Amino acid sequence: MAIFIIIIFFVILLPFLDLEEKNNMGEIAIIGSGTMGNGIAHLFALHNYKVALVDTNPDLLSLALNNISKNMERQVLKGAVTEKQKSEALSRIITTTDLNKAVNQVSLTIEAVPENFKLKEEIFKELDKITHPETILASNTSSISITKLAAATSRPDKVIGMHFMNPVPVMKLIEVIRGYNTSEDTIEKIIKIGIDLNKTPVVVNDYPGFIANRILMPMINEAVFALQEGVAGVKEIDTVMKLGMAHPMGPLQLADFIGLDVCLSILNVLHNELGNPKYAPCPLLIKMVAAGNLGRKQGIGFYNWNKKLEVADAFQK
Ligand SMILES: NC(=O)c1ccc[n+]([C@@H]2O[C@H](COP(=O)([O-])OP(=O)(O)OC[C@H]3O[C@@H](n4cnc5c(N)ncnc54)[C@H](O)[C@@H]3O)[C@@H](O)[C@H]2O)c1
Repeated sequence: MAIFIIIIFFVILLPFLDLEEKNNMGEIAIIGSGTMGNGIAHLFALHNYKVALVDTNPDLLSLALNNISKNMERQVLKGAVTEKQKSEALSRIITTTDLNKAVNQVSLTIEAVPENFKLKEEIFKELDKITHPETILASNTSSISITKLAAATSRPDKVIGMHFMNPVPVMKLIEVIRGYNTSEDTIEKIIKIGIDLNKTPVVVNDYPGFIANRILMPMINEAVFALQEGVAGVKEIDTVMKLGMAHPMGPLQLADFIGLDVCLSILNVLHNELGNPKYAPCPLLIKMVAAGNLGRKQGIGFYNWNKKLEVADAFQK
C-alpha cells in the first residue's frame, strides 16, 4: 500500500517538478537584436523559452521581430514548423529598450551586441549589478576573451561563451567557451540548454577566436588578400573553394554573410592578442569597412545583395 501511495505521489507530482525546472531555465534575456540576437531569440522562443529581446534602438527591435516572423514563416512553408508553433513562439518574445526590466526574472542572459570589448565589458558590469546572483551571463562573442568579460563581474564562475553560428535557427553548432574561472556547473547547465535547443554544444578553452574563428578568419582574410593582389576575381575565388574544397559557400560570400565589420573586429582581436602578423587584416577589408560596405546586412560587400548576388560593381572586371 505504501509503495502504491509513493508511486501515485510521483506520477502526480513529477510533471510539476519538471515544469518547475523548465520554468526556472525558461526565461532568458538577449541583449542586442541584430543579425545574431534575433536568430537566438527565434531559436529559444521556438523551444518554449520566454524571451526578452533588448536593444538600445526601438526601430531595430521592430525590425528584429519582423525578421523573426518572416524567418519562422519560411519554416512553416517548408513544413518544419506549424502555424500554431509559430504564433505561440512569437507570443513568447517581448521586446524592450529597458535592460533592467528585461533581466529581472531571468536565469540566463546572452549578450549579442557588436564585437567591441569596452561595450561588452560595460554590459557585463551592469548585468552583474542588476541580475539575480545565480543568473548565468553568456556572451555570443566571436573572439573576445570570456575571462576578461568575467573579470568585470563578481561571478566569474557564471560567465561563459555561447557562440551561436549564423543563421542561428539552421546551424547545428554552439561553441561553448570555458573562461578561466567558469565552473563545471555552469558548463553543464549550458550544455543541457544547448541539447534542449536541438544543437550540438562543443566546449573549447578561452583563447582569442576560440576554434571557429581562429581557423575561419585567416582563411577569409587570405581570400581578400588574393582578391586584392588580383590572383583571381570574387566569383573565381569562391568557386574554387566551393567546388574544390566542398565548402557550401565561398569565403568572400561567407564574409559578406557574417558582416565585413564583424570579420574585421575578429581579425583585430586575433592580431592584437596573439601578436602574430599573420592575423593582420587585409587593407582591402579595412577599406571596405571604412567605406560602409558591410556585406549582406547593408546590401553591398563583395557581392551586391540587392541584385541576386551579382559581384559588386567595384569588383566587376
Ligand atoms: N554576424 C555573425 O555572423 C556572427 C556570428 C557569430 C557571432 N557573432 C557575434 O555576435 C555579436 C553580435 O553580432 P551581430 O552580427 O548580431 O551584430 P549586429 O551589428 O547585427 O547587431 C548588434 C545589435 O546590438 C545593438 N546594441 C548596440 N549596443 C547595445 C547596447 N548597449 N544594448 C543593447 N543593444 C545594443 C545594436 O543596436 C544592434 O542591433 C558580436 O559579438 C559578433 O562577433 C556574429
